[in-house]
Amino acid sequence: MLVTGAGGLIGSRITSQLRQLGARPISVCKLDAYPHEVYRERFGIDASDPDFIVGDIAEPDLMRKVISGCDYVIHAAALADVAACTRRPLDAIDTNITGTQRVLDAVAASDRVRRMVFVSSASVYGNGDHTGQPEQFIEGTAVQPVSVYGNSKAWGEYQTAAVLGGAGISYAVVRYFSVYGEPQVVKERSHSWVVAWFAMRAALGLPLHLNGGGHQIRDMVHVDDIATGTLCALVAPRAHNKTINIGTGSGTSIRQIAELVRSHYPDAPLVETPMPPGDPEGGYASIQRMEDLLGWRPTISMTEGVARYVAWLKATPAAIPDWMRQAAAA
Ligand SMILES: NC(=O)c1ccc[n+]([C@@H]2O[C@H](COP(=O)([O-])OP(=O)(O)OC[C@H]3O[C@@H](n4cnc5c(N)ncnc54)[C@H](O)[C@@H]3O)[C@@H](O)[C@H]2O)c1
Repeated sequence: MLVTGAGGLIGSRITSQLRQLGARPISVCKLDAYPHEVYRERFGIDASDPDFIVGDIAEPDLMRKVISGCDYVIHAAALADVAACTRRPLDAIDTNITGTQRVLDAVAASDRVRRMVFVSSASVYGNGDHTGQPEQFIEGTAVQPVSVYGNSKAWGEYQTAAVLGGAGISYAVVRYFSVYGEPQVVKERSHSWVVAWFAMRAALGLPLHLNGGGHQIRDMVHVDDIATGTLCALVAPRAHNKTINIGTGSGTSIRQIAELVRSHYPDAPLVETPMPPGDPEGGYASIQRMEDLLGWRPTISMTEGVARYVAWLKATPAAIPDWMRQAAAA
């Protein structure tokens, strides 16, 4: 089993669930999305483990060698930060486009891989056709990404279908909605990962920023559920060559999320700030296909998931990055 990007939040949760199921996941990850202590202390990554390869998915020889020994591939590595992709589009292209092509080439050349899951994102839906009502995103509708990140994910979806469909190798595309949950650690200058942002800022007594007033809608899925849904897509017979939303089917506004976090930190002030570029209006997942094809749905409610995150943060205050503490002290 190969999991690319296995050092990150979601990849590390997928590999830990795989181990619990008795599989032997091999990891390829650049370990460049966080400081090393975050990987080690928060995500439990042991870079000296022989099954953990610190490397770049854009290396064709590496990918061919690793994938030639695998029965399954979950491709989760990405420049996974919307704002960073906007600032550094060529870096997004290196990993999300060129890297994905290298993974696809190696899977297509394998005579062993039984299925690859390509990890995509609800960002491919962009703003949808907003008419004032929260939008329900259905897999069959045309994709309309509004960011470099969303563009790269849409390309990955089409390219997975073109390359693996052409090679006769089974694939599934999973479109994650907004993922949260312990031990998520925010990235500097990012505007993704709202639960972690709000909780960490509230813990420091900083105001919670409501970009655009906080009207945007997100379908928040706990990372435990995301990992389980991905493994379902890896093995469910009916997921063959399908694109599947992984969400809860419920939309929550950013303002509601702020209020939920404030129920644990009542003194945290709210401040309205401008919308950042590439931040979509959002919506929530249609989960009918997910339920039909995977026979599964998420189990962790937002109230429970936020409470778990806050409990973890209160027990692990060192998880708050130094740059955020310095901003609080300034
Ligand atoms: N977190 C979310 O809300 C969310 C939502 C939708 C989709 N996704 C997708 O889920 C996947 C995992 O996201 P995450 O939240 O765990 O992100 P993350 O940043 O925590 O982990 C991604 C990992 O990929 C690695 N990586 C980046 N470029 C690489 C390369 N060229 N070679 C090898 N490794 C490389 C990084 O070092 C990082 O450890 C990504 O594909 C992301 O786009 C995430």
